[in-house]
Amino acid sequence: MICIGSDHAAFELKNHLRDYLINKGYEVKDIGVDSPISVNYPKYAEKVAREVASGSCQYGITLCGTGIGASMAASRVKGIRCALCTNTFMARLARQHNDANVLALGGRVLGNGLAEEMVDVFLNTEFEGGRHAVRVAMLDDIKD
Ligand code: RB5
Repeated sequence: MICIGSDHAAFELKNHLRDYLINKGYEVKDIGVDSPISVNYPKYAEKVAREVASGSCQYGITLCGTGIGASMAASRVKGIRCALCTNTFMARLARQHNDANVLALGGRVLGNGLAEEMVDVFLNTEFEGGRHAVRVAMLDDIKD
């Protein structure tokens, strides 16, 4: 199951990607928003992150205007490694090196075609482990 959610600024791209993934055969949980009326992105990014952190969804896709706020919010949930990506290279490395479990995208940054490719790459790239596993484990050791 893939969880997807956005604020108003990425409402159209979120819906586009949801339908794109469903058409490809993925099970998708859309946690909103359900209209382009202005909302606060942390609420929706947190919802996506919690679906992944709980194990209900394998991966999450969180969107806002730039993807910046959504990525900040999602990464605050324990167990979430959210990667803000703007191209397919970043989407690939986010999985190979960072074992990212949530992809953050900007609805005001990306066109539909590029976003589709990035989602495809993210969902179909394996974590390389090895030296990267050591580094990823260190993320959880960072405390205030
Ligand atoms: C909303 O106007 C915008 O600030 C939000 O979508 C996002 O880009 C924040 O990081």
